[in-house]
Amino acid sequence: MVDVILGLQWGDEGKGKIVDVLTGQYDAIARFQGGPNAGHTLEFEGKKIVLHTIPSGIFHKDALNIIGNGVVLDPIILVKELKNVESQGALPKQNLKISKKAHLILPSHRQLDAASEASKGINKIGSTLKGIGPTYMDKTGRNGLRIGDVLAPDFLDRYQKLKEKHMGMFKMYNYTPDFSMEEEWFEAIEQLKAYEFIDSEYEINYILEQNKQILAEGAQGTLLDIDFGNYPFVTSSNTTSAGVCSGLGVPPTKIRNVMGIFKAYCTRVGSGPFPTELLDETGEHLRKEGNEFGSTTGRPRRTGWLDLVALKYAIMINGVTELFMMKGDVLNNMDTLKVAVAYKVDGKITYRFPYDACTQIEPMYREFKGWKTDIRTSKTVEELPAEMIEYIQFIEAELGVPITIVSVGPDRKETIFRKKN
Ligand code: GDP
Ligand code: IMO
Ligand code: MG
Repeated sequence: MVDVILGLQWGDEGKGKIVDVLTGQYDAIARFQGGPNAGHTLEFEGKKIVLHTIPSGIFHKDALNIIGNGVVLDPIILVKELKNVESQGALPKQNLKISKKAHLILPSHRQLDAASEASKGINKIGSTLKGIGPTYMDKTGRNGLRIGDVLAPDFLDRYQKLKEKHMGMFKMYNYTPDFSMEEEWFEAIEQLKAYEFIDSEYEINYILEQNKQILAEGAQGTLLDIDFGNYPFVTSSNTTSAGVCSGLGVPPTKIRNVMGIFKAYCTRVGSGPFPTELLDETGEHLRKEGNEFGSTTGRPRRTGWLDLVALKYAIMINGVTELFMMKGDVLNNMDTLKVAVAYKVDGKITYRFPYDACTQIEPMYREFKGWKTDIRTSKTVEELPAEMIEYIQFIEAELGVPITIVSVGPDRKETIFRKKN
């Protein structure tokens, strides 16, 4: 069967850490959407590694890691990542396979991302500028190039044709593109040929036929989903559980558990609405304590209180069966905590996530006493402070889904498992 791990907020919930923790229970780990806009951090044995395209199971030699058809990949970034993980002891030539159908991010896609953002001025999305949007546009526009195409004799011609199309778009944007990375891009393509390109939908379904277990690793978060996020301040793929079927070629009947990850508070990087955002010293405190700076871009992340209206929405869309609460340790020194339980829009209380990204929302909060205890050394639920247990039990009761993992630090070992009631 396929279990899914995905972010329920605006990304960076700690997906990489948890996938790494759980990989031992699975035969294969597969990324199904997104690309190098993702930055998934793993910490173990004193090492800290950030992955962008490679699934977070890569350091477990017995697990196969698959980059699925729904992913878009940048050869330059992927080759750098491969070299990095190889230098840290991983063996991707043996346990990583890449779907032939994954689309290629061209140098011109990255440049188009920059041109598009520049044209939007203050209304920019706050993209990571990795070329994600333009690549998915070419995919749905049926103009894209896929990694399997690099083996075709006319690959260069097809590349030039797509680049020509992009040149017309640069004129429209009045933008002068920089192609200085083109040579490196082609070199990276050659280096990638040393890795295995597969018909991933067949391999994945074969794994399932043998009653083996697959973990699908989401990137970004539900509130950045192209359909259900705060459009247009979203990414360009389906980050939700539905994306697993189209991004890997697995039937919905093969999906078993949907594990939703959330931080004990909220962060967002890039533009767009953030109802519980804290623009004061409490927000600054969360940023500092949580080291909330983008894993991909280094940008400071916006911070705020936990938002249960948004979480309920994400649970509904994804069919979440269990929850993992991350980074509770970041709240260790707070006197008081707040959790949004409803929104007020135009003076009326609502429990729905609004259609319009620009709706003025006043969050309605419930307050909690902070635990003022260092929980990073806690190994079991029994060791957690009573105030934190109260916080967890309130969230569980409001959301109606059990919290089965409480993460108390970035390291693999700083993970507490809770039984389902
Ligand atoms: P992802 O994109 O969802 O994989 O998350 P990121 O790696 O972008 O951001 C999460 C950050 O929080 C990383 O720096 C992790 O090492 C760190 N992290 C994960 N879990 C915890 C936790 O429970 N406590 C603390 N303090 N940090 C954590
Ligand atoms: P992980 O997998 C947080 C955000 C960007 C921007 C919007 C669109 O690490 O959780 P894009 O580059 O896709 O055009 O950017 O989405 N964004 C992320 N925010 N974590 C991510 O990935 C993100 N990937 C994209 O900041 O607001
Ligand atoms: Mg991240």
